[in-house]
Amino acid sequence: MTLFISPEGPGLLELARQAMSSTQRGYDLLAPKFRSTPFRTPDEVLDATARALRPLGPFEAGLDLCCGTGLGVDRVLRRVCTGPVTGVDFSEGMLDEARRTVPGAEWVRADARALPARDAFGLVVSFGAFGHFYPHERPALFAQVHAALRPGGLFAFPVAAPPRVGSGQYWALWGFDTAMRVRNALWRPRFVMYYRRFRLPEVRRDLTDAGFTVTTLALETLGRLPDGSPRCRLVLARRPDRGRSSDS
Ligand SMILES: C[S@@+](CC[C@H](N)C(=O)[O-])C[C@H]1O[C@@H](n2cnc3c(N)ncnc32)[C@H](O)[C@@H]1O
Repeated sequence: MTLFISPEGPGLLELARQAMSSTQRGYDLLAPKFRSTPFRTPDEVLDATARALRPLGPFEAGLDLCCGTGLGVDRVLRRVCTGPVTGVDFSEGMLDEARRTVPGAEWVRADARALPARDAFGLVVSFGAFGHFYPHERPALFAQVHAALRPGGLFAFPVAAPPRVGSGQYWALWGFDTAMRVRNALWRPRFVMYYRRFRLPEVRRDLTDAGFTVTTLALETLGRLPDGSPRCRLVLARRPDRGRSSDS
């Protein structure tokens, strides 16, 4: 992703006001213009995810975790789920936008760290939100998703390859995370968003510890890096099905 804002997006003053709020309040303020910011997940990533998930389905009920304005529900869950689709987010402002723009889904206000669902979904997806959780919060977050899935259900999310050390994007993300650390050391409430704290090896370990069986899939339509590795992988974390030994 780039960190540039389009003319339809929020101005610098608006962004500064949002950045000095809590994560939740910041998104409430950003919600009406969120889709014009670089913080939304690009359609190519959503479409590549839907294409990769289709042969693994069909899925029944689906949940988009930290759904924001509902792009993942609209472009992914509605394409691969045969049952009801739900978005969960803690920002009422983001959910209002989702309700307005994506009809036919259920929208639930809840913190992802305390999901009000058990054994309910065949598929949980999430896009662009894991930077809002400190690494030490991941085990509890993944345990919530594991419990919300039905046995045999799938938790799927894309993870981009980290930028090459020393590249422009590397320094842009390093600068963003450093500014965020300084801001959170000096100011309350915290706005938690870090780009460089969600690394695949640690994430894989945390998912396995939470009870998932983890594989990854290259999202080929998003291309490969000069060294031949995929630009973006889809993480597929399955809650084992107690009834089928092949899943355990
Ligand atoms: C960068 S936006 C991504 C939105 C959407 N998934 C997308 O890709 O366009 C991150 C979203 O995560 C939500 N979020 C952050 N922390 C959360 C938490 N603890 N519980 C629920 N939602 C959370 C925010 O309110 C925001 O809507």
